[in-house]
Order: sequence, then structure tokens, then C-alpha cells
Amino acid sequence: MEDKKFILIEEAIKKGKGKVSVRGWVYRERGSNEFKFIILRDASDIIQCVLERKKFERQWKEIDKIQIETSLKITGEIKKDKRAPTGYEINVDEIEIVGKSENFPIQKTLNEELLGDRRHLWLRSRKMNSILKIRSTVIGALHEYFRSKGFYEFQSPIIIPGGAEEGPTLFEVNYFGRKMYLTQTWQLYAEAAMYSLEKIYCVAPSFRAEKSKTNRHLAEYWHTEMEVAWADLDELMDYAEEMIKHVIKRVLEKNRKELEILKRDIKKLEPSLKKKFPRIRYDDVLKILKNKGINVPWGKDLRTIEEEKFMEDYDTPVFVTNYPKEIMAFYKPRDPKNPKTALCFDLLAPENNHEIIGGSVRETNIEELKKSLKKKGEKIEDYFYYLDIHSYGAIPHGGFGLGTERLIKWICGLDDIKDAIAFPRTISRWRP
Ligand code: 4AD
Ligand code: MG
Repeated sequence: MEDKKFILIEEAIKKGKGKVSVRGWVYRERGSNEFKFIILRDASDIIQCVLERKKFERQWKEIDKIQIETSLKITGEIKKDKRAPTGYEINVDEIEIVGKSENFPIQKTLNEELLGDRRHLWLRSRKMNSILKIRSTVIGALHEYFRSKGFYEFQSPIIIPGGAEEGPTLFEVNYFGRKMYLTQTWQLYAEAAMYSLEKIYCVAPSFRAEKSKTNRHLAEYWHTEMEVAWADLDELMDYAEEMIKHVIKRVLEKNRKELEILKRDIKKLEPSLKKKFPRIRYDDVLKILKNKGINVPWGKDLRTIEEEKFMEDYDTPVFVTNYPKEIMAFYKPRDPKNPKTALCFDLLAPENNHEIIGGSVRETNIEELKKSLKKKGEKIEDYFYYLDIHSYGAIPHGGFGLGTERLIKWICGLDDIKDAIAFPRTISRWRP
């Protein structure tokens, strides 16, 4: 089979007639005495291929034995066929078996645990192939968005001496005999770099030793973060909203086919492109919940069920702002107009997807920072650099962090965040 120009299955289908050469893996197969039907897959799509015994008498023994995931090169005539899964069929003239596959361990129905154990093979499924393509679009669109807005890409360290969102969810690292940690956020280093570059972003792994098993927590996730000089809370929310809209727009442009394979109802995403995301204060969320018969005492964080009740009236993400200062991270400043609350927001996504972004203006008053750190039981010495950066020419600024897999979960309509990443890490899933 020399001198063949192999094309993608997607391109062959577009061509629609004439001779084509494609290569890939057997997705499904069935045979009779006279015929072998193979559904071939490559990165781009699947196509039905028919082999007639009378054309392949010499090779038939081999062909008859072809199983799922055998790799093949095929040349033949492509034509329309309504009965074929993607509407086209190749009548095969030549076949070359490249790599054998016997007893592929994923057949029809495996439970989630077993699929998780065979994740390295499950990536070949149409479901994972589609999600990974959408994930690639999402991450590409995030970079594209920030770069188009004049942001520099900035990287912070992954191994850190301390200083974090929440102490209990830090992963320890043995660092040459010294206790260090895996980062939960780039933020504190990003603020240092903000004083140099003003507008920065990154898409990088963050780590959280989350002990609770939910469908939206990973131990290792890709955190899309940004930090901007001179920004106030409204400006931060403008960026967040525009970023989400840009990502959805790109996915709808590039991944219609994948969304269809995932059976995602695109109508559920469209309102988020067209409508402005509401901005509602925590105080008002409590009032709305009260009208629904749910009493949340002022000062308590919203629980899963309360967020779901609140979000049932919305078909776009909603910004909830001004959470109680006392339950917020030490770097979130008081709102001078409502000092019991902080200048911060969470962006909650519809369809029970909960918080996908957390952001805030940053405290720059050294005394306030020290007070909050002490209250949280942190050691001031661990934060010397953070206090140092705000000692020289402090300015108003802020930023946010997006859980990239949470966004992918929502866009794809997934039940579990584990499917938004190729090799998930959770408390109970750590291999392969
Ligand atoms: O709300 P968080 O903890 O905020 C921060 O880390 C800030 N320092 C970000 C910033 O302002 N630069 O985390 C931000 C987002 C959350 O809204 C959530 O979407 C995601 O990160 N996230 C997780 N995603 C998956 N698995 C987990 N265990 C996550 N924890 C947080
Ligand atoms: Mg948060």
C-alpha cells in the first residue's frame, strides 16, 4: 500500500464519492460468511466499511479475525448509505492490518469504577474523544480571550512554602526534607507580578486535598486565573462575563458535532450568549431564598441545596456579590459601603453547576491584612512577601479564578467533573 494519500474520515465523508484511503482503529465489527462490516474510527469521526469475501479470498482468515481496536489502513470507494452510522460507507478494495488487538477489555457496559480503571483505553470512546476536543477549544479560547485583551501570560510556582485559600486542603510535599505544599492558587504571587505587568493571566494546575466526594471537586484541576491593576469589582465581573461568553461562542462555532454526540441540548447554552448575567448581592439572595421558604441565617455560606434553590430561576450564570467578610479569605477587603460584607463575587452556573468562578478586589492595607491573617490563625512571617508587595506603591486591584473543568462540565452537560479531564484525581481515584 505505498504512495497512498491518507485522509481523515471526516474529509472522506465530505468528499462523499470516489476512491479514498483512511486509517484508524476498529470501533465495532460484525461478520458473516460473505461479509465483514467494520466501523472504523480515527480522531475525526467514524465510518462503516464493508469487505466482501469474494474480493479477499487470500486474506479472509485474517480479516475474519479482526477485533475491536485493531489498527487498519483501508482503501475503497466511498458512497452515501442511509443505514450507515454516519451516512456513508466505504466498499473496501484493499486492507492492511497494522496492529493487532485481541479481547479489548472495554465492551458494551462496564460500571464507572471499571471504566475509571481502564481510563487509558476509555479515552478512545466517542464520549471522551468529544469531551477532549471541547476541552481543547475551551482552553484555546481562554488564552485567546486574555491575549486579545492585552493580558500577559504569567506563571507562578507550583511548590509553595505556605499561604493559601484553606489550610486543611493543602497537599504536603517532601521538599529536600522540608515540608512544603502544592499550590491552590497562583494569586499571591500573581499580585506581586501585577505590580510589574498590570494585566496577567494563566491556565495552570491547582491542587486541593478535598476529602468530600462530590460531582464537582477534583484534587488536581486546571485553574484559569487573572489579576488586573486598577480594577474594581464591576470591572472584574465584566471580564468574567465576557470571558465565559467568548468561550461558549467558540465551542458553539467549533464543536456542534461533539455536543451532538454528547446529546447536549445547545438551547441551554444560548441564553448565556445573549443575556447579561444578573449581579445579585448575598443579602438579596437570602431574601429570595426566604420567599422560597428557606431561611439562611445572615453570615452563613450558601449550601449546595440553597444554591440550587436560588439558581432554579435562572438560565444564565449569576454573580453573587458581597458575601459576609468574616467567612471570606483574608485578602478580600471590606466594602466601604457595606462593611459587614466583602468586595467579592462568586459566579454560579445554571443547571446545578454551582460556583465556577471566585473573585475579589484585594486588600492592600497592611494592618487590615495582618488582622485578618491573625484571626485565621496564620503566621504573619509566612506572608512577609505578600505584605511587602503592598508596602510600595499599593493600588486598587483584583482578580478571579475559574475552575476550568467546572466550566467544561457545564458546557458539555456532564454529570461528573471527572469526565471533564482525561485522568482525574480525587480522593478515591488516583490511577491510572
Ligand atoms: O474560589 P477559589 O478557592 O478562589 C481562589 O483560589 C482565588 N485565589 C482565585 C483568584 O481570585 N485568583 O477557587 C477558584 C475556582 C472556584 O470558583 C472553582 O470553580 C474552582 O476554582 N475550584 C475547583 N475546581 C475543581 N475542583 C476543586 N476542588 C476546586 N476548588 C476550587
Ligand atoms: Mg470560592
